[in-house]
Amino acid sequence: MQTHLLICNGDSCMLHQGEEVTLAIREEISRLGVDHLIHTTRTRCNGRCMDACVVIAYPEGSWYKDMTPETGKELVRNMTEGRKLEERLVYSFAPMNEEQYE
Ligand code: FES
Repeated sequence: MQTHLLICNGDSCMLHQGEEVTLAIREEISRLGVDHLIHTTRTRCNGRCMDACVVIAYPEGSWYKDMTPETGKELVRNMTEGRKLEERLVYSFAPMNEEQYE
């Protein structure tokens, strides 16, 4: 396991496609066959409801905002290439390791 995605399923995020984002991310992980590298967990509110729907990637500590099913899938694809989803990135604590998905 290389990355843990925390997908917000708090009230505000659920009003902003939280369920659809969760399913899209999980479908893309499965489609790409990277279940052994990326794990997902639904969470309650992460305290940034103005950014709903929120997705957080650990251990790099990248926080993503305004996520949709489409950007959720794009995030998974980017992660498998060692890249972040820059256009939805709020902030990040550490750079990704480009070799971690090889
Ligand atoms: S409900 Fe997702 S950050 Fe508050």
